[in-house]
Amino acid sequence: MRQIKVINSGCGVTEIRRYEECGGDPVVPLRSFELKGLRAARRLPLDDVTQHDKRAVRTARMVDTTVVTSVDLRETNLNKNVQCNGSSGKNINGKIHLQNGSLKSQTISNGSNKCKDENERFPTMDWSQYDTFPGSFEKCSLMTAALTHVGMYLLMFLGFVNQLLFKPKVATERNREGYAPLYNPFEQFFSRYVYRRVRHCFNRPISSTPGAELTLKERHTDDYNWSFRFTGKEKRCINLGSYNYLGFAEASGPCAEAAEAAARRYGLALASSRGELGSTPLHDELERTTAGFLGVEAAVVFGMGFATNALGLPGLLGSGSLVLSDENNHASLILGLRLARVAVRVFRHNDVRHCERLARAALAEGRWTKIVIVVEGVYSMEGSVAPLAALVALKKRLGLYLYLDEAHSVGAMGPRGRGVTDHCGVSPRDVDVLMGTFTKSFGAAGGYIAGSEKLVDWVRARCHAHGYAHAMSPPVAAQVLAAMRAISSPVGLKRVARLRDNTHHFRRRLREMGAITFGHEDSPVVPMLVYTFSKMAATVERLTERGLATVGVGYPATPLNKARIRFCLSAAHSREQIDRCLDSIEAVVEEVGLRYSRR
Ligand SMILES: Cc1ncc(COP(=O)(O)O)c(C=O)c1O
Repeated sequence: MRQIKVINSGCGVTEIRRYEECGGDPVVPLRSFELKGLRAARRLPLDDVTQHDKRAVRTARMVDTTVVTSVDLRETNLNKNVQCNGSSGKNINGKIHLQNGSLKSQTISNGSNKCKDENERFPTMDWSQYDTFPGSFEKCSLMTAALTHVGMYLLMFLGFVNQLLFKPKVATERNREGYAPLYNPFEQFFSRYVYRRVRHCFNRPISSTPGAELTLKERHTDDYNWSFRFTGKEKRCINLGSYNYLGFAEASGPCAEAAEAAARRYGLALASSRGELGSTPLHDELERTTAGFLGVEAAVVFGMGFATNALGLPGLLGSGSLVLSDENNHASLILGLRLARVAVRVFRHNDVRHCERLARAALAEGRWTKIVIVVEGVYSMEGSVAPLAALVALKKRLGLYLYLDEAHSVGAMGPRGRGVTDHCGVSPRDVDVLMGTFTKSFGAAGGYIAGSEKLVDWVRARCHAHGYAHAMSPPVAAQVLAAMRAISSPVGLKRVARLRDNTHHFRRRLREMGAITFGHEDSPVVPMLVYTFSKMAATVERLTERGLATVGVGYPATPLNKARIRFCLSAAHSREQIDRCLDSIEAVVEEVGLRYSRR
């Protein structure tokens, strides 16, 4: 007869363990397939189990299984046996005395979730002590939500009728019998009949540097946005659509000169990966400077920001790792986690309480080699900021790892522009993996992973982006280096301060207009909610007519009913330019009807 022991951890998780009769305490958790087999079997009444929770009782009703003990870790302190790296031992005065004679401290260290007593309890966090950055996320009225949904379904219905009646003027798959379709039918339908209606508002070609202003090339369509032709005209607009936070995207000045000099010295491309022949002294200098800028031991740089996440995460995480991922994480992080083939549990956006609950439940399972929280510094769709101090406290309390993507925060946040660590007053060394990109504040391309020397050595050895992807182009490395050095100078600090002033002023005026904006007061990404797809297109068109280049974002990049205009502010904008933009926005808010705020 099989014997089991039921352990209720008090974290919402009940563990069922095989009972070793001769060895005393049970140490082997039942694996899921064993549990499944047991569960499927005939149920027996269970009289000798204290009914801790429904789940324990349900699981224990198994054929040929007796529950020999039932322990509620919330109430008892009986089990002093511990498991540490595969050996068992005794917990005496906070020290783990392993059977092999060695002694281990029981202090919670990073990622040491293997070393814990079964009955060890980490006190729950007192979140009232931390600023969890709730940001502004005003909800729209029920009427707006309903009309937005009706509008979207109407568009889809009209698209469906259109598809039935007219043959689309696009290439169609032929002779594909027996093959899976190349395209997802819903995506195909959505992009042809819903997205196409507003396609003229996206991917608009420009013919200048995306600085404080840019030059839009005018297009015209003769076939309802199936295709476009250039009219030959150009329009100069104030640029509120690029992530040029500190204004380093310039066609002249120290950064452009440094890039030009590097192109002359090293050429435009190295035709090799970093791991082979793609390293120059410029790359080494950039890595040293990046580490110094971020305040950590070492850094490694890559030619593409997206690939830094997509190929970096699989090198860092292996089987047995569990990732707690924010629900709004960027596509590059999600792809990286998928390629790493790790278990992922998603917590609600910026909700540290939810993250804590998931982390505690995972710890109680006792089967993960690493538990890693993956978040972004500033979220580009929401304009929200990660509650970093709270997350660092949580990861220290529970012995987790933290992976922080600073793509939108490095350079743009904090009094010194060092990112969200600087903004939250957190030591960068408390974040296990600092990741960021050079595409935004540095006006360049590429990404980095930074942290301890050990971490960076590991990344160099294990991440395919280092070993196989093309190295960062030398002029790009020179641009980043020049921008990074400039940020540390008084002139750079002025840019950081100007960005913050512009952001505060812009957000305040939008609020005064009665528009709903999302996110944190300091976030230079300012989403203004327009809700419906048609209003998004109308707003972008009207702002362009008034000389303002902006980006509209809708489904599937946002939830169905939360289309928005995403304004990106820059230190390159003068106050006069910002005020001109705000006047135009106010006129359009009035015309299109965007005064949704009820505050
Ligand atoms: C949070 C985040 N991470 C990574 C990336 C990818 O960076 P890149 O565009 O430099 O490839 C982006 C891109 O916008 C991003 O927003």
